[in-house]
Amino acid sequence: MSAEAVPARDATASGEARAIIEVRGLEVGFEGRVGVLAGLLGRRGARARAVDGVDLDLYEGEVLALAGESGCGKTTTARAIMGLLRPQAGEIRFEGRPLGRRLRAYRREVQMVFQDPTGSLNPRKTIYEIVAEGLRIHRISQGPNGETEEELVARALSRAGLRPPERFYLLYPHELSGGQRQRVVIAGALVLDPRVIVADEPVSNLDASVRGEILALLMKLREELRISILVVTHDLGLAWTVADRVAVMYLGRIVEIGPAEEVLQRPRHPYTRALLDVVPEAGGIDRPILSGEPPDPTRVPNGCRFHPRCPAVASGRAARLGIEERCRTVPLAPLPAAQDHLVACYLAELGERP
Ligand SMILES: Nc1ncnc2c1ncn2[C@@H]1O[C@H](COP(=O)(O)OP(=O)(O)O)[C@@H](O)[C@H]1O
Ligand code: SF4
Ligand SMILES: [Mg+2]
Repeated sequence: MSAEAVPARDATASGEARAIIEVRGLEVGFEGRVGVLAGLLGRRGARARAVDGVDLDLYEGEVLALAGESGCGKTTTARAIMGLLRPQAGEIRFEGRPLGRRLRAYRREVQMVFQDPTGSLNPRKTIYEIVAEGLRIHRISQGPNGETEEELVARALSRAGLRPPERFYLLYPHELSGGQRQRVVIAGALVLDPRVIVADEPVSNLDASVRGEILALLMKLREELRISILVVTHDLGLAWTVADRVAVMYLGRIVEIGPAEEVLQRPRHPYTRALLDVVPEAGGIDRPILSGEPPDPTRVPNGCRFHPRCPAVASGRAARLGIEERCRTVPLAPLPAAQDHLVACYLAELGERP
């Protein structure tokens, strides 16, 4: 494991960066999916180590992108952070303290925005009811300054860019465009005045023409309301657009993390490098880009979990540098949570570029 200290970017550099959410030693596994026949025979599938030792800090007022190919464990990490699934190991802390009994307050202060705006909106409810729902769930009948429910809903809608808000109250989701629907989802989160938003692929189901608007909205919320945002994405281009820091995940682990311009302009992990090599032409990293088998969390390779697909191993460079044996057999420790540019790779330990 190698650590290279670099100055952090704006949001985190202004004074002491305080972690609002701390993830430590997170592990989430799923019992294997089995075919019908195997199920009848009583066989269980292998356990999928979807998240396999993740440490991560989200600082106050920052946008942190959690990036990586489909299936690497991003959504599972996000759901565990939201308290939506129970980890096998590890801890989530909010403002320095374990969730434990604070779960109720946490559920208000940390809001999730899902990928599919249509699927997460009830088609039979009006926009007003949808946005007011969070207030009702949390039994909030007025705002901290005596605002009425309607005032809170109106403010959330206009903060989400739906103006004038009254125009949307009595509409139903199907009467809105995809971009407007995603704004309604965001308004539903904002109505609770959250400190953190976890956005899972917030624009991947939207037309390219409105993606930029939604991303600009997220950045504005960070700027004006100082909401911390964890954005989950398979798209490094998106990470480049919005994020202060980027964490790159591979097979349930963070393999590289640091300030966005460091990680994306001077990547130090061969996997990050490979992802970046395809971004301009492919516009994303959804297609297979590396040789070797696609990663399978039921069969995590020995040594560095990326070694079966690592270009440095395939080209013989790792052997020439005398690290191939370690790449194949010696596991790397999980990266600790830190503000610096960190990378889990034997090549990087030697100071070599990927
Ligand atoms: N509910 C589940 N049951 C079984 N396996 C799951 C479940 N959710 C996710 N997985 C598996 O865990 C791995 C990580 O999934 P996910 O967190 O959704 O990845 P990502 O969001 O990065 O695409 C995948 O192999 C996926 O098939
Ligand atoms: S540790 Fe070895 S196999 Fe893993 S990414 Fe680095 S060079 Fe490649
Ligand atoms: Mg996902």
